[in-house]
Amino acid sequence: GQHVLSVKDFNLELINDLFQVADQMRPYAGRQKVTRVLEGAILGNMFFEPSTRTRVSFGCAFNLLGGEVRETTGLSSSALAKGESLYDTAQVLSGYSDIICMRHPDAGSAAEFAIGSRVPVINGGDGPNEHPTQALLDLYTIQKELATQGKSIQDLSLTMLGDLKHGRTVHSLCQLLSLYRGLKIQLVSPQALAMPTEYVDMLENAGHQVQISDKLDDGLPSANVIYQTRIQEERFATQAEANRYRGYFRLNKQVYFEHCQPKAVIMHPLPRDSRNDANELDNDLNFEPGLAIFRQTDNGILVRMALFACILGVEDQLSKYERAVNW
Ligand code: CP
Repeated sequence: GQHVLSVKDFNLELINDLFQVADQMRPYAGRQKVTRVLEGAILGNMFFEPSTRTRVSFGCAFNLLGGEVRETTGLSSSALAKGESLYDTAQVLSGYSDIICMRHPDAGSAAEFAIGSRVPVINGGDGPNEHPTQALLDLYTIQKELATQGKSIQDLSLTMLGDLKHGRTVHSLCQLLSLYRGLKIQLVSPQALAMPTEYVDMLENAGHQVQISDKLDDGLPSANVIYQTRIQEERFATQAEANRYRGYFRLNKQVYFEHCQPKAVIMHPLPRDSRNDANELDNDLNFEPGLAIFRQTDNGILVRMALFACILGVEDQLSKYERAVNW
């Protein structure tokens, strides 16, 4: 099977091809057209860790291509809680499905699951390790947002903010950005939550200009894209330790207008923690045109539709299976 376990599975040619297919998905995602190209296919959407948008957007993307979705949510409601191995679970579920998306709290779990699977497996996040489809939709969003300003990826000056130690989305994004050369990347986090060295090395080896800081103001003025992240409480040894960093970097209207470029794009993989003591991305930015977080989630559908179509080999047949919109 053609698994998607890591962003390491991609090169620039594959990414560009995938993004072209994602562009073609726009009328189907926007309900101007309906395609039934995956009619009869079943997605096993296996989420053993909490999720809203990854789980639902995988499911909706498959439905929008005409396929059906079966899903489990939560570790405790699956037989993994009775001690069943990932290998056995994968063997069983792959007998019921044409493709499987899975999320699990352990690093390396998606790769372990794939060994037992008889169908392609897409990693929907394996603990603190990787979230490859999020990184793909983030890269797609960065390109689309820069394009609206007449810029290309080569013009990117990106500031990643927050919990860069535990954030799997930023780990995967660093790897994808390492396929390019000569970008400006600022890494801003509390010192204890710094980006792991392997990812910094990766960015530097790609010839990017990397700046590391623990001060919010340092990272903002030079950025045309700001990527805020949540403190990943579930990855800390204790809640007390996580609480030390709640509310550490808050991005709000005042900070945005004081420190950021006029059209700076704000991204966040979401969920943002909207509780008062955290609130890393304030609701007062909701009506700013630069806030791209919901364009980002909309792009997630396009990129996931494209992934399904490419993996199942139907990307050239979308229009052949088109039906009229009946509502
Ligand atoms: N961005 C992301 O992975 O969100 P969920 O945890 O809701 O899937």
